[in-house]
Amino acid sequence: MSVNMEEGLQTVRRAAGGEAFPLRPLAIGGVVLPSNVFCAPLAGYTDFAFRKLCYSFGAGLCYTEMVSAKGLLYNGEGTKELLLRGEGEPPQTAVQLFGGDADILRAACGNEALAPFPIVDINMGCPVPKVYKNGEGSALLGDLPRAERIISACAKSGKIVTVKFRIGLERGKYVAEEFARMCEGAGAQAIAVHGRVREAYYAGEPDYAQIAAAKNAVRIPVIANGGIFSVADAAAMLQKTGADGVMLARAALYCPHLFAEFHGEGHGWDIPAAIARQTADMLPAFGEKRTVVHMRKMAAFYLHGRRGAAAARRELFACDTLAQLNARLARIFGADGQGGDAGENGEGASDD
Ligand SMILES: Cc1cc2nc3c(=O)[nH]c(=O)nc-3n(C[C@H](O)[C@H](O)[C@H](O)COP(=O)(O)O)c2cc1C
Repeated sequence: MSVNMEEGLQTVRRAAGGEAFPLRPLAIGGVVLPSNVFCAPLAGYTDFAFRKLCYSFGAGLCYTEMVSAKGLLYNGEGTKELLLRGEGEPPQTAVQLFGGDADILRAACGNEALAPFPIVDINMGCPVPKVYKNGEGSALLGDLPRAERIISACAKSGKIVTVKFRIGLERGKYVAEEFARMCEGAGAQAIAVHGRVREAYYAGEPDYAQIAAAKNAVRIPVIANGGIFSVADAAAMLQKTGADGVMLARAALYCPHLFAEFHGEGHGWDIPAAIARQTADMLPAFGEKRTVVHMRKMAAFYLHGRRGAAAARRELFACDTLAQLNARLARIFGADGQGGDAGENGEGASDD
């Protein structure tokens, strides 16, 4: 799978200027969200600790990682972990399910493990072949009747149901408008539209016209997603599409503090403090070994764009214990959290 994690750095930096964005509360079903800037579901990343961090910076809504509806019904260990909630995590978090069978998804919605989540989002955009070939994720873009059966079955569960989808499978064969209308008719209470087709994966500009077509086709809230790496990008996205809110994905991984910039807060991104908070949240649930492995990955994202990042990442990935990780992070970031030694090759160009 080709995921362009490196794109967008410059625009994340530009965001420090604080361009205007129409920040406002947004209601989905009966749930009033404090802001219309969401953090996307991100498999491997949007666990409760990361969500808490994003909420602390002002994200209006966060999602779990995508959860298999089948896995949920078979009570898989891994699935239970994906559904963990953090102490003090705001109540609105949406759980994202994927699956291809209406009965299974309907049963999953009624599962007591979902009780803490008021909103169930259905994944109709995942491009990964394993998911697609099972008739799940983005495969549903090519089968509207089945997608409709799934949404309407889930809506009957009493949960607030939302759908996240792409604008089509292939370039030139767009379904955004029709799909949006179908979602609303089947009972979805909001949609998030990723403005790329399946074959594009994560590359290229989002198609603003297709997101706008989806927005104009429905009355439920429409959240625009794709290629937003700054407040300015988000403002442009709303201006070009008329969407009600935006969803940050890779930008949140590079810099969760970006949510604070929508609220007019300056660039006080303290990476060691964020890592310390996430680590403290994860440790009791995941133990030292898994927490270290995960936080190495997170720190690698947070280093994005810094001088000497590649060398620093190599050293982080050699850390096996929390003590090693903390010592290495202290050396990378220095006491003030901003400076420090970025690694042996620290004087090179950014993010080498
Ligand atoms: C590492 C990674 C994991 C993702 N996991 C999910 C997921 O679990 N569910 C989902 O609907 N989309 C997932 N996505 C897609 C994002 O939510 C988002 O739609 C996409 O990255 C486009 O937004 P961006 O251009 O701002 O990154 C994932 C993307 C990435 C890069």
